[in-house]
Order: sequence, then structure tokens, then C-alpha cells
Amino acid sequence: MSAGRDHDLTRREALAALAASGPLLLAGAAAAALPAPPPGKEDALNSKAALVGKHTVVPLPFAAGSLHGLSERLITSHHDNNYAGAVRNLNGVEQELARITPATPPFLVAALRERELAFRNSKTLHEAYFANLGGDGRRSGAIESALAQAYGTSARWQEQMRATGMGLGGGSGWAILAFELDTGALRTVSSGGHTQALANSVPLLVLEMYEHSYQMDFGAGVTPYLDAFFANVDWNEVNRRLERARHMHTLVGANAG
Ligand SMILES: [Fe+2]
Repeated sequence: MSAGRDHDLTRREALAALAASGPLLLAGAAAAALPAPPPGKEDALNSKAALVGKHTVVPLPFAAGSLHGLSERLITSHHDNNYAGAVRNLNGVEQELARITPATPPFLVAALRERELAFRNSKTLHEAYFANLGGDGRRSGAIESALAQAYGTSARWQEQMRATGMGLGGGSGWAILAFELDTGALRTVSSGGHTQALANSVPLLVLEMYEHSYQMDFGAGVTPYLDAFFANVDWNEVNRRLERARHMHTLVGANAG
């Protein structure tokens, strides 16, 4: 795997709340309304660790033209426009949040916080999505047995995952195979946007269902997109995520059920 595949992965996987997308309209309005930092203080404000606003775009972990049934044009556009746009917008929102003061109107803070969550989770999920592509689509290893234990057979789980993706077709969102940290259970989750996924869980396999992830190649054809997605899954990457999630479960899991 390229260096890009492992970039920031542990931190991404530790994110549990997944979040709703949309253009950065409110942040622009907020930027006009928020007071500028005092002269000489801008660098200090923007240097806070929580709101640096300097996230970078993670390169594709595979050659854009190397996938089976997903075109180079689609993958490049998705990565360079949609994903990179989310990173740029997250940076912009963080920089605006770094400027808030006790005098900032609460509705502006609320709007910025909503956009912050959407763009942060969009970044996280896009990186996980691209990182779990580039494989040969053949399941093996620990995830195979874990899926069989959870769903009867791993093929039965794939039926559920496909159906979850189909349910989001023509709209937006993500289908996610997630590892629940408190119970150690596998869950198949449908998130209608960037903000609706399972709390306290680690994404193991991320399937994007926003139309920009397939429309260029398939129009409204969800079924051929799902065929192509599963044919390109890198199950070695999923197994690495499962191993790390199980380790996290031993550290933080306290409840059963
Ligand atoms: Fe996307």
C-alpha cells in the first residue's frame, strides 16, 4: 500500500459520530458577521490545536485509473472536487470558529458547529472510503469469520450491505459496516448524510452513496455501481481496521448487549 493509505487512519477510526452534508453557505455569511481578531492575534487564534484549519488532502491510495469498473475520470473528480472540497471547507469553518468570542451571536456559532461536524465527518468518511478501495474484492481473514458469526454467512451480510446501499440510491449518504466499541459487535448502518451514523463505533467498510460517487459512470444506475464497489474492496484494509478496532474494544469496551 502507498503511504497515503495509512495516513491519519487511527485517528479517523477513533471518530465515532458520523455526520449531514451541504455547501458552505453559512460559513461565508458568518465570516462577514464575525469580528476580526485583534491585530497581531490572528496567528495565535489559529494556532490552537482544536481549530488549526490546516487539514491537508490525503492522496488516493491507488492509481485513479486502476479500479475495475470505476473510471479514472469519476475517481479523480470525486477525490479532487468533492473530497478535497470538504477538506477546504473544514479548514474554512475551523478558522471562523477560532474567531468566535462571547459576543458572537449563538445562531452563528450553531451554524458553524453544524457545518464543522458535517465537513469533518465528510473528510473522515471519504478517506475511509477511498482507503477501502483498490483491492480485488475477495473477502478473507478475520473479517470473513466475523461476518459469518454475526450474520450467518458473509454472503448474507453482503446482501444486507447491498440492500442498505440500494436504500440510499438516488439520494445521499453512506452505508457503513461498523464495529461497535462498547459491545464488540458488527453493525451495518445507513447514514442519510454525514451526521447520522452509529455513535461509539469504528467504520470498517465505508460505501459512499452520494450520487457524485457513481453518477458520472452509471447515471442513476445504483446496481452496477454496487457491483463495481464490491469488486474493488480491499479486504486486507478492512481486516487491519478490524484488528485495531478489536484492540480498542479491549481498552474501552465495558458493556455487553
Ligand atoms: Fe463523495
